[in-house]
Amino acid sequence: MTGLVVAMDGPSGSGKSSVSRGAARALGLRYLDTGAMYRAMTWWMLRQGVDLSDPAAVAARCGEPVVVSGTDPDGPAIHVGGVDVAGPIRESEVTGAVSAVAAVPEVRARLVALQREIIGDGGIVVEGRDIGTVVWPDAAVKIYLTASPEARARRRSAELAGSTVEAQREAMAKRDTLDSTRKTDPLSMAVGAVELDTSDLTLEEVIAEVLRLVAEREGSA
Ligand code: DC
Repeated sequence: MTGLVVAMDGPSGSGKSSVSRGAARALGLRYLDTGAMYRAMTWWMLRQGVDLSDPAAVAARCGEPVVVSGTDPDGPAIHVGGVDVAGPIRESEVTGAVSAVAAVPEVRARLVALQREIIGDGGIVVEGRDIGTVVWPDAAVKIYLTASPEARARRRSAELAGSTVEAQREAMAKRDTLDSTRKTDPLSMAVGAVELDTSDLTLEEVIAEVLRLVAEREGSA
């Protein structure tokens, strides 16, 4: 029997990372941030000077970088070719370019295979956009986190020094459109997923709800 897999999908700013890490910690599970893997791939492409507006060029090179993702909820690590990229992948250059890289089918095929390997026998909370739909459709618990555009923009601008709520709202709307209209594995709610609107909830309240859903699913298994 495989261990529990919790699939946590949703747009940026919905609270996925904090909720996933908190739930993994509370449940004694591993944690995988799949967005960090797409960001790491993007960081590498930028560094190599790959033309990101050319999907064929991105596809041709995406098999090269060795992306290694840690699964400790207390200190998620990400390395590309042995270089620690946990900091650089959060910078605006990568954030602005990642949607284009994540839209390339060959990139997704490679990273999805890697993600499935890491999930392995389970015992993990996995956050992303396509976990419940593509990466692990058999996940015992599938959660789709949402939040109002205001709440999401507020959270992101609080995280990033010097950014305004309005600028964040615009940047997020642009990224949402790219992520949910791309041809390969667009962001969408999985069959059997529970939608959780986090706009008016504290982090602790959302984690408590996730733990309740996990207990409910395990009780009925
Ligand atoms: O969650 P995040 O902002 O770190 O994700 C970065 C980008 O990667 C975002 O534009 C969507 C994309 N992504 C994806 O396409 N599939 C995933 N499973 C995770 C992230």
